[in-house]
Amino acid sequence: MSKYSTVGLWPSEREMIQRFWHPGGRILDLGCGAGRTTVPLRQAGYQVVGVDIAQPMVSQAKLFAENMDLDFPMAVGDATDLPLDTNCLDGILFSYNGIELIPKQSGKISALREAYRVLKPGGTLIFTTHAFEAFNKYAPARLQRYGIHVFNRMLGRAKEDAELGEVIVDPKRTVEVYYMQINSPRRYRKLLTQLGFSLVYYNSRKRIESGKSPTRLADFDGDFKFYVAQKET
Ligand SMILES: C[S@@+](CC[C@H](N)C(=O)[O-])C[C@H]1O[C@@H](n2cnc3c(N)ncnc32)[C@H](O)[C@@H]1O
Repeated sequence: MSKYSTVGLWPSEREMIQRFWHPGGRILDLGCGAGRTTVPLRQAGYQVVGVDIAQPMVSQAKLFAENMDLDFPMAVGDATDLPLDTNCLDGILFSYNGIELIPKQSGKISALREAYRVLKPGGTLIFTTHAFEAFNKYAPARLQRYGIHVFNRMLGRAKEDAELGEVIVDPKRTVEVYYMQINSPRRYRKLLTQLGFSLVYYNSRKRIESGKSPTRLADFDGDFKFYVAQKET
């Protein structure tokens, strides 16, 4: 949990928030973890609500808020079945690749569908992911898993429910996250469009933080991708 206790927005998160949201807006910090982004959002004047599936994370975030003399609602909840009304939010932040921790493609679709439901018309979802095609130190391992997956499928060995990209990151559980499913950004772009969102911004964290303009070539950057998806007005 300590990994997510570090406080503060990344410069790229701050830039996206300032560009697409206005202080005073009603924002859901989805997968809020220990409050890294929830607290600065509140401090910046947003009406923020924190939701996380893990009770210990919510407790930690509450403690953090108390220590900062802040008071805002926080609850245990699942991104795939949000405890919120339809059309009630100006924005949703699902930071630090949290969507990749939701099991299966069907789970990710449910989460995006729920985000669409609870946003007001014109509201925006900001989230980040890794990329299957990123050139980084994990690329050889990803390619190897892909090869094994294809090979097993060819031999009819793949389990019916197995999906490409489901990986056990740390079987020894020395870190919190040991399940993650990394998609291609192309898949997220397609899903967002299918669900009715418009993708109003897409770029990599590194490019945002070095002032570079958006490009689909960011798919191949080794860094995280930012998506800003708007519900139709
Ligand atoms: C990588 S951590 C990021 C935490 C925090 N947003 C941050 O940036 O420091 C992802 C968070 O998503 C939460 N999470 C995973 N699946 C979730 C789900 N289905 N619904 C809500 N939260 C979820 C995890 O419990 C975890 O706190």
